[in-house]
Amino acid sequence: MRAIVLRRFGAPEELRLQDVADPEPGPREVRIAVAAAGTNPVDAGNRDDGSWAGIEVPFVLGYDVAGAIDAVGTEVDHMSVGDTVMAMTGFPRGAGGYAQLVVTDSDLVATLEPGIDLVEAAATPLAAGTALEVLERLAVPRGGTLLVLGASGGVGLFLLQLASHAGLEVIAVGGRASHERMGELGAAACIDYTSEDVAQRATEIADGPVDAIADLVGSHQLTRSLHALRPHGSAASIATPELDLDLVLDHNITFHGVLIEDDGDRTRRLAELLSTGVLRPHVSHVLPLEEAAQAHRLLESGHAGGKIVLVVDPSRVTDDG
Ligand SMILES: NC(=O)c1ccc[n+]([C@@H]2O[C@H](COP(=O)([O-])OP(=O)(O)OC[C@H]3O[C@@H](n4cnc5c(N)ncnc54)[C@H](OP(=O)(O)O)[C@@H]3O)[C@@H](O)[C@H]2O)c1
Repeated sequence: MRAIVLRRFGAPEELRLQDVADPEPGPREVRIAVAAAGTNPVDAGNRDDGSWAGIEVPFVLGYDVAGAIDAVGTEVDHMSVGDTVMAMTGFPRGAGGYAQLVVTDSDLVATLEPGIDLVEAAATPLAAGTALEVLERLAVPRGGTLLVLGASGGVGLFLLQLASHAGLEVIAVGGRASHERMGELGAAACIDYTSEDVAQRATEIADGPVDAIADLVGSHQLTRSLHALRPHGSAASIATPELDLDLVLDHNITFHGVLIEDDGDRTRRLAELLSTGVLRPHVSHVLPLEEAAQAHRLLESGHAGGKIVLVVDPSRVTDDG
């Protein structure tokens, strides 16, 4: 099979298309013929330095895939060759998605309803799964207000949809170019972090402090916005924050650090949300597999404006996908 193989940690140019041996599924695994592979910022981090994920080169990056079951292990009886599926492969050491074939634990795979766009499906498991985890950890009751920092990114655009579907009033923070899209996908109001004081504007919009903050950016953004959070409110970060713990303590704030974990049930819930139209993935860039290096440059810009997906088998994805 052909795969994007990382032979040395480093710059995007280290991602090279090569012929490698087909992987074989173990007894409880399936092999997926990949139609499209999603990319995530963590892929770029792993490409640069594998130590956090504990990976060694040579390595095939990529956690998100959509395609068709191509082979099943001897103990797999709930899936068949030909089933259309999406999966987030084992995190963080599994990966292998930037390839024509990937092998993964059969429990991590979700069957897709007919008609689901495979590019959109490939964009979904890790980012939407993270959004779902954040929402569940914050546990804001229906009618509550949620401030989302980084709402215009891959995770953020999914979180807007899930939070508004859960009946929350969502205030979305992102660059001006994404405001219309954030509004379409569920934001009640938008703030441009490049030109506005986020905490002050959020308090004005909510007519008081918000109930929770989702920090999808990291660094100082959460601390700068904490004045907009009510006492006994909650905050969650998915990227490492420079957090002022005095503020957290003085206002009785509950802080959640969130890291996605393997969870096939969550991916199956996401597949259902795709089929019911609750989730509408926003794919900003679709590139052929051989342009993985360019996908990583876009990831590292931090402003891709949506998900970046690699097409592995053009015959399996729709023309407009
Ligand atoms: N912990 C986990 O399990 C987990 C899971 C997934 C992702 N992550 C991490 O979470 C982060 C976001 O992931 P992603 O896939 O959504 O990345 P992404 O698609 O690159 O999105 C980043 C977003 O942050 C926005 N942004 C940048 N600076 C900002 C600021 N100062 N204030 C507000 N927004 C700002 C950008 O907005 P504009 O483009 O509009 O300027 C962009 O839309 C990454 O660091 C990623 O590694 C963690």
